[in-house]
Amino acid sequence: MSLKQTTTILQSKNGINCIKQRASSWWSGVQMGPPDAILGVTEAFKRDTNPNKINLGVGAYRDDNGKPYVLPSVRKAEDKIKAKGLDKEYAPISGVAEFCKASIGLALGEGSEIISNGLNATVQGISGTGSLRIGAAFLNGFFPGNKVVYLPSPSWGNHLPIFKHSGLDVKTYRYYDPKTCGLDFQGALDDISKIPEKSVILLHACAHNPTGVDPSKEQWLELSNVIKRKNLFVFFDMAYQGFATGSVDNDAFAVRHFVKEGHRIALAQSFAKNMGLYGERAGAFSIVGDSKEEADRVMSQIKILIRPMYSNPPVNGARIVAEILNDPALRKEWLPEVKGMADRIISVRNKLRENLKKEGSTRNWEHITNQIGMFCFTGMNAEQVEKLIKEHSVYLTKDGRISMAGVTSKNVEYLAHAMHQATK
Ligand SMILES: Cc1ncc(COP(=O)(O)O)c(C=O)c1O
Repeated sequence: MSLKQTTTILQSKNGINCIKQRASSWWSGVQMGPPDAILGVTEAFKRDTNPNKINLGVGAYRDDNGKPYVLPSVRKAEDKIKAKGLDKEYAPISGVAEFCKASIGLALGEGSEIISNGLNATVQGISGTGSLRIGAAFLNGFFPGNKVVYLPSPSWGNHLPIFKHSGLDVKTYRYYDPKTCGLDFQGALDDISKIPEKSVILLHACAHNPTGVDPSKEQWLELSNVIKRKNLFVFFDMAYQGFATGSVDNDAFAVRHFVKEGHRIALAQSFAKNMGLYGERAGAFSIVGDSKEEADRVMSQIKILIRPMYSNPPVNGARIVAEILNDPALRKEWLPEVKGMADRIISVRNKLRENLKKEGSTRNWEHITNQIGMFCFTGMNAEQVEKLIKEHSVYLTKDGRISMAGVTSKNVEYLAHAMHQATK
């Protein structure tokens, strides 16, 4: 693109001519991009004046009054950190050390031999997204097999851009069955068994986003076997530990089982949901290696990748997480708080199903209570979604996904009525 220049001679007050040169903008060739699929929903919601409007687009937890929730354990951790009068020095490139240790401990379990033998290389990332991005960069630089990541279909909308942006190829394997609104287990097994050996497979550790459909424990065992047979490298995305069933140990079942079975995994963790630390951006990326020496080499290269990207991560969120996980009393307070969030979501799933029945809906809504975690993939089509938005001011993404976290005991009847009207 050539840059045109316009020259204007301006007559100044003292008679001396000055020349103003203006280039047509450097960015005149930049086209307007589409709004973010999820944040665009919130924008439309904000413009709506209907007092009954509901925003079920964004995946952030709300209490039963529809308000953001700061966990009491987080407030206490903040007070404790303040009382320590810590300085604001840079964290190391790999982040706050106590945070990294606590984070991988939460994922693998406190007695994990992987940790005691130093087989994990763990760094603090910029929440789950940044941790995935660091992992993707590492795979792109160093993965010795096919640089192709296989995602479940569908997957979280940001996975594809994260991996593509890092230079990796992305393909998919079957996961969700629209006919049952459940897992297409046979389809997944068939597709996975056709993935070329030494490729990367991404698995959602729990509370699959956007479908809310997770494999059962037995299915995880089978998946582990097939994936091992095919010699695939597993990248776990664990953004919802504790949020699915209310138990951080239950929700880590898949990760711990794969590790026990000898898979050498990559893992991205986020504390956005399970500690409500969305804006604090606390997360971690780990690689489990074969030896401490290998983990050290991997760690050295991850640090070299991080340094030119953002130098080192922010300390505040990581300090909060470390305080909660490393203080036995505070950790004991946090665990029921996570369970409380999970339980509230499970209870509104039940209420939504009951109310749809009360409305007289004859559709099968079983999946609302079978699915798990923050989201429900309702099975509503684009036309029905459009009706919900236009006629009832219920905002959701076009794929029919609703964030159960936005449903409360006060709006659930209105929501059921609207869903019935849109789908009958
Ligand atoms: C599957 C999945 N992975 C990762 C993330 C990352 O979230 P964050 O970067 O806020 O931790 C999310 C958030 O919605 C998610 O749903």
